[in-house]
Order: sequence, then structure tokens, then C-alpha cells
Amino acid sequence: MAKEQRFPFTIQNVTEEEDAVIKQYYKGYNRPFVRIGPHGYLWPAGYGDHAADIYNLEVRPDDIWVTSYSRSGTTWLQELVWLVQNNLDFETASSVSVSTRYAFIEYPTLASEVRKPTPNPIMKGQSATDEDYTTFPSLPSPRYVKSHSPLSLLPSNLLETAKVFHIARDPRDVVVSYHFMHIMFRYFDQSVQVREFWNLFKRNLILHAPLEEQVREAWELRDHPNMMFLMYEEMKQDLPGVIDRVCKFLGKEYTREQKDKLNEYLQFDNMKKKSPSGDEKKNSELTFMRKGKSGGWVQYFDDEMKKEAEEYMNKYHMCTKLQFPDVNS
Ligand code: A3P
Repeated sequence: MAKEQRFPFTIQNVTEEEDAVIKQYYKGYNRPFVRIGPHGYLWPAGYGDHAADIYNLEVRPDDIWVTSYSRSGTTWLQELVWLVQNNLDFETASSVSVSTRYAFIEYPTLASEVRKPTPNPIMKGQSATDEDYTTFPSLPSPRYVKSHSPLSLLPSNLLETAKVFHIARDPRDVVVSYHFMHIMFRYFDQSVQVREFWNLFKRNLILHAPLEEQVREAWELRDHPNMMFLMYEEMKQDLPGVIDRVCKFLGKEYTREQKDKLNEYLQFDNMKKKSPSGDEKKNSELTFMRKGKSGGWVQYFDDEMKKEAEEYMNKYHMCTKLQFPDVNS
């Protein structure tokens, strides 16, 4: 067994003022939220308790990790990766939910101290994961892993040991999608508007913020032979091309016909139909598979927010140097 490493970052409480603002929105959390490391990633106190456990997880060479900032297209990529790696086993993919096939490493650390009642009826029977950092060491190989932790908080030998994917998305679309997710999962009251969410996002008072630093960490490692960095917009624009790249990266070969079938399987409408909440709330925004579009943010931002978003995008580009392809679909 590898020697336990010291967790290399500081974990400190947010300021009292920040905590008061956060708790006006995030319901049921008693302890102060924390900021981790030099970029001050925002997490509930529970993550701070277990940051070292997560950092010290043993990585196996046949693990596959899919990482992202929340609402960037993680589930979409998880499904693509799993199918490519598993001989395009559509039958299992259709019958066993992606959240069962992947461990969601930090999931339990996100829970509030005051347990909320079972959310929304659409979520019944649908848990975010069956496995997490507590059960991860005893899972049989090959293990599939999802994480919204920045790479710096994950095991330091991760990239040297296993294949890692990261997916990024236009932050403005992430904000809108994340806002609806916060309401769907009852982190926030239904009355909270996108405008308020945006204000919190700008101040890095939203879970996992700052987004741009998390993306930068992965983007800077994009040329590592074990890293595949993808953008949601590329998947929207040219899914067959992305499928080819993922196959190559994982060393898998399929016929054109098989890849076409995969492309079909991964279409938004098909995945929505298959998702546990799919049929019940077809037209609601409060569903995991909400709209599946790029550029939809413009409908939710007023003029002032659009101006602020321009400023934010400058900051984002300064930080990540990443340009998203222009996709509006
Ligand atoms: P929207 O809320 O904009 O619709 P994550 O899995 O990281 O939480 O990301 C969720 C976002 O990815 C949601 O965005 C969801 O609809 C979108 N998504 C999931 N599967 C998709 C697919 N097959 N095609 C397009 N978008 C998809």
C-alpha cells in the first residue's frame, strides 16, 4: 500500500460575510463553507473533512476518470467513453444507469448537515451514484470514475497512472444549466432567478467555483498522453469526429456503421428518453437532461448580464486561453 501523502493545500473557512451570503441560498448547511488551495475552490465543509482521503485514493492503470466542472456535459461524455470502452454494449447502457456504472468520487461530501427530504418526485429511484471515495478502493477493475474536483485535488499520480478525460463548456451555458440544477436538487429555493445565481457565480460563491481555474488546470495538461480534453461545443458540432478521437485515445476500433449507431445513441433526444426523469418532465427546465443546447444562455441574460458576461469571458480567456467553437444549436 502506498504511503499516505500529506494533503498539500490549505483549507480555510470562507469569510463570515461570504458564508452569510452562501447560506442565504444553500439550504441546510450549518458549518461554514471552505475554500481550498491557492485558487480558493469553494466546497461544503464535508469536502474539507475528506480532501486528504480523496487525494490519497489509489489509482489503477485501468481506471477511467471523467472530470469536469458540473453541468459541462459530463454525463454525455461518460456515456460515450463507457460505450467505446465496453464494446458498444448498448443493452447494458440502456438498462444500467450511468450513475451506477461510474463512481462519483466526492459525492457524499456535498451533503448538507441537515438532510433534506427526498427531493422532487422526478428524482425518485434515481440516485447520483452507488459508489464514491469510501467504497472506491474495494471496487473491482475496471473502475469508471466521475469527479467535479479540480485535478489538483485528485491523487497526484492520477495522470501518470490512468486515462483521464476533461470536458469544458461555455461558462455562460454552464451557469444557466447549473442554476436549474440547483433548484432541481433543492440546493436553492425555486424562487432564485438566474440573475441572482449569476451574481453568486461572479463572486465565486457557487459550489466548485472558480470554474475558470478548474478548466485551466485541465487545459494546461491537454497534451499529456493520458489526458483527453474535450469541449461540449465540439460534441455538439461534430459528434462523429469526437467519437473517432475517443476511440483512438482508448485504442478501440469500430466500423463506420457501429460508430453511426453510437452517434445515434448519444443524441440528446435519445438519451433524454432513456434517462430516469426523461419522460415525466419532458418540457420542464427542472430535469437533468434539460435542453442540451449551445448558446441557449442568451435567452436568460438581460443586457446588463450580457455586458458583465463579456467581462467575465475576458477573464476566462485570460485564465484558460481556451476559445469555444461558435455553435448555436
Ligand atoms: P442543459 O441543462 O443545458 O440542457 P452534466 O452531465 O455535466 O451535469 O451536464 C448536463 C448538461 O449536459 C445538461 O445541459 C444536459 O442537458 C446536457 N446533456 C446531457 N446529455 C446530452 C446530450 N446527449 N446532448 C447534448 N447535451 C447533453
